[in-house]
Amino acid sequence: MTDTAKQDRVLIFDTTLRDGEQSPGATMTHEEKLEIAEMLDEMGVDIIEAGFPIASEGDFNAVSEIAKRSVNSVICGLARAQFPDIDRCWEAVKHAPKPRIHTFIGTSPLHRAIPNLTQDEMAQRIHDTVSHARNLCDNVQWSPMDATRTEWDYLCRTVEIAIKAGASTINIPDTVGYTAPAESADLIKRLIETVPGADEIIFATHCHNDLGMATANSLAAVAGGARQIECTINGLGERAGNTALEEVVMALKVRNDIMPWKTGIDTSKIMNISRRVATVSGFSVQFNKAIVGKNAFAHESGIHQDGMLKNAETFEIMRPEDVGLSETSIVMGKHSGRAALRSKLQDLGYELADNQLKDVFVRFKALADRKKEVYDDDLVALMGDSSDVEDHIQVKFLRVICGTEAPQSADLTLTIDGKDVQTTAQGDGPVDAVFNAIQALFPHDAKLALYQVHAVTEGTDAQATVSVRLEEDGKIATGQSSDTDTVVASAKAYVNTLNRLLVRREKSAPADFV
Ligand code: KIV
Ligand code: ZN
Repeated sequence: MTDTAKQDRVLIFDTTLRDGEQSPGATMTHEEKLEIAEMLDEMGVDIIEAGFPIASEGDFNAVSEIAKRSVNSVICGLARAQFPDIDRCWEAVKHAPKPRIHTFIGTSPLHRAIPNLTQDEMAQRIHDTVSHARNLCDNVQWSPMDATRTEWDYLCRTVEIAIKAGASTINIPDTVGYTAPAESADLIKRLIETVPGADEIIFATHCHNDLGMATANSLAAVAGGARQIECTINGLGERAGNTALEEVVMALKVRNDIMPWKTGIDTSKIMNISRRVATVSGFSVQFNKAIVGKNAFAHESGIHQDGMLKNAETFEIMRPEDVGLSETSIVMGKHSGRAALRSKLQDLGYELADNQLKDVFVRFKALADRKKEVYDDDLVALMGDSSDVEDHIQVKFLRVICGTEAPQSADLTLTIDGKDVQTTAQGDGPVDAVFNAIQALFPHDAKLALYQVHAVTEGTDAQATVSVRLEEDGKIATGQSSDTDTVVASAKAYVNTLNRLLVRREKSAPADFV
């Protein structure tokens, strides 16, 4: 790459599988992580932060496997400023053609108080740990966590130490989403001007969205000289989330006239990965979310529709196909065959093996029997139902009696490990009755942390997608199911979540990780 090309290029560092997955309830299974990593690699993400290898056996295995399967992306793992973390991280990422170790420590006064280190002691720790990482891997990233609330002089001092110890990327995290655009640009610019050796390395920006400014802050940091943006699909992440990949990438594409930097992202793959991340994380995308929300390209009002018909540019600053939205979404009906289904699912980003297609085709036919028109969103919902965990528990039969007179009752048969069990339970509403019946047939201590219903498409025959999150002894699982009957979808979503909870590996972060 020429020097000018390097100047113009902004690297996209995706942390959906680390910072995104760290969000309570967004835990993904091993298979789901591999699938998302493959999609990120294919869409042109420069660096994938695949996990936090010391956090658990599951994280380690996922990062190792993603590293082995990676094609173009750099595979990065996170490590605290401790030798065992860094060693473990290297063990996982070393399988990648392009590995990176990302090590960090909280440098602000509040964060320094946690390990109870003086400024000098912390400076020494940074030197030792970055040097250690650099001895293992020639691509090391260092982050002063809570950089935006760290004293200026101390921030410069620590960044200089990390550069001298061999870090080739310095990430400046706005850990608590506190900064604002002008400040974000200024911070990076002053670091580049002040810290010796800063012009030899790449500065990254890592923003959280607590004040709704993550995208603006990231783009401002690039204007200030940062050349790597850290972000997640759909802005997934703790609290209000991280910078959304689709927002910064499309902003740089659409407003390249005033932000003359390029990314290597194939933007036509945005919608598919957005849908997939929403499904596997259980965090659905709000309808009016920029770029990937259901309404982002919908023009409902008369004036808008009239303008759109005459010239799409009247109200559209980007074309739906730029982000991978197909023109028409009426797709299939009960006469559609298996080949048509496979081809449509491929358009939507799903590559299915023959046995998977067979299973999906059966469920597609069942849906098409109940619903005249099957839309893209119906198929995405159907795919969200494909469980990748073993179904210990299945819904065999459900009938609810409901009406104006409470209580409502549910007659439920579950198949648990091959054996049918049946009960009738009552509740305050049909869903409550069904959940009580499940509890009676499969007693458990999990608490319901989320119950959410979404209509997939319009019309009274629309499918409902139900998301359920359960929490038991600090373990969280999220499951989903869709059906034209909301109560059936609720029962299946609850059972799907229980199945996930049963196989959920122990995922406990190390005690002093903040
Ligand atoms: O927000 C943050 O500070 C982080 C660091 C671990 C980089 O995610
Ligand atoms: Zn973060």
